Amino acid sequence: MSPTRPAAVVVLAAGEGTRMKSATPKVLHPICGRSLLGHVVAAARELDPEHLLVVVGHGREQVAEHLAAVDPDALTAVQEEQNGTGHAVRIGLEELARRGATPEGTLVVTYGDTPLLTAHTLATLVSAHQADGNAVTVLTAHVPDPTGYGRIVRDVTDGQVTAIVEQKDASPDQQAITEINSGVYAYDAALLAEALTKVTTDNSQAEEYLTDTLAILRGAGHRVGAWTAADHREIAGVNNRVQLAEARRVFNDRLLHQAMLGGATVVDPASTWLDAGVVLEPDAVIHPNTQLLGATRVAAGAEVGPNCTLTDTTVGEGARVSNTVAQEAEIGPEANVGPYAYLRPGARLGKGAKAGTYVEMKNASIGEGTKVPHLSYVGDATIGEYTNIGAASVFVNYDGEAKHHTTIGSYCKTGSDNMFVAPVVVGDGAYTAAGSVITKDVPAGSLAVARGQQRNIEGWVARKRPGSAAAQAAERARETQPDD
Ligand code: UD1
Ligand code: CA
Repeated sequence: MSPTRPAAVVVLAAGEGTRMKSATPKVLHPICGRSLLGHVVAAARELDPEHLLVVVGHGREQVAEHLAAVDPDALTAVQEEQNGTGHAVRIGLEELARRGATPEGTLVVTYGDTPLLTAHTLATLVSAHQADGNAVTVLTAHVPDPTGYGRIVRDVTDGQVTAIVEQKDASPDQQAITEINSGVYAYDAALLAEALTKVTTDNSQAEEYLTDTLAILRGAGHRVGAWTAADHREIAGVNNRVQLAEARRVFNDRLLHQAMLGGATVVDPASTWLDAGVVLEPDAVIHPNTQLLGATRVAAGAEVGPNCTLTDTTVGEGARVSNTVAQEAEIGPEANVGPYAYLRPGARLGKGAKAGTYVEMKNASIGEGTKVPHLSYVGDATIGEYTNIGAASVFVNYDGEAKHHTTIGSYCKTGSDNMFVAPVVVGDGAYTAAGSVITKDVPAGSLAVARGQQRNIEGWVARKRPGSAAAQAAERARETQPDD
């Protein structure tokens, strides 16, 4: 059953995250293409709440700025001092009230550092909460090691949740409980506001515990429920870099599973990393040691890897990309890239085009069937169709002050070791000689030769390097080859 739209989701993200030992606020650390907070906000948005509010504190400017970028509609409330989770939610409710948006109906509380919590689990929690008519429903999980978590205390007779007891306040019996509080709840907003007025700081940490609202609501005769997460790993919070890496692994595995069930082949899931925005079409094949980042898209039948890092890059149907770094590039269908190519922003390869070995391209359009096979730099250029660029060519685009454009037509054959000194235009069907420095436009169909004439100085080695190995080799060659 799909839940009724929540009135609000409140995300707690004011904590310092000291164990990250980082200049960056904890919730801004990225995994799989989004910040921790970005993942939480994306999942929360799927509930379509009327208001999404993030409680910020430590690093508030940075967090608020990031939030404005990833979710411009999200609201923030500032918690100056971190006096506990109950206090944080109270600050959030006060901010909503100040905006004339006092929530009525379901209010969800979640944390900014639990990136693995899925929208599905949140929706199930809200559905269960609404179906049971609870004042509060806490998301719980059974974990192998409950140390550090609040424990779910249940009534021995009816199994109902009676309280949540924090690690530091728990008796030895309570510490043995392995059902823990995830920190995620669905509340009736009005009853939450009322309960928060009764929360005290009478505990070992002298904080306002949100968890106390469960016993308070139950004591007032309201229904208090629990919903147990199917997979306890979903509720794992990130507190240090070890947990950051673990969360990244889990999230990446999820993305890989989705991609594989969607028809993509991932040869080595252990060495393949995806961002949340990546799309792999059916029959895409990803070889080992490959990272596909940002909004990268790999079309049907294309093969990427091994050893590729593609960021915001599209790979067309049936294309082949190996040992390549690409950013904001468009690789056309059946194009061939690498091994050892570097495609920088604005590199666009047409159908069947090639950027081969040790080829760098930037802001360059390469037409259908055009090949740049070896050892070349193509910057700020337009190349037509079915042109071949000789090995070791450089598009000389920079005069030290400004960048200039080179245009090469279709069906051209440019020689090896050419320099195209931009701005310059080579017409359709033109040829250029190897070793040429092309500084003037080349008309269509002509051959451009721009290099020094070769001069052979006979007997130079024998005269200038007498007795050397080279001189002796030359002498032997003269003896075996009759004079002409
Ligand atoms: C809390 C719960 C505990 C639960 C655990 C799950 C309470 C009292 N305890 O404990 O039952 O098992 O989460 O992870 O709620 N935060 C604020 N402002 C504050 C305090 C916290 O924004 O004043 C934010 C933190 O940034 C963090 C989250 O709330 O994202 C949890 O705070 P934390 O101090 O880590 O709570 P725990 O002690 O872990
Ligand atoms: Ca915590």
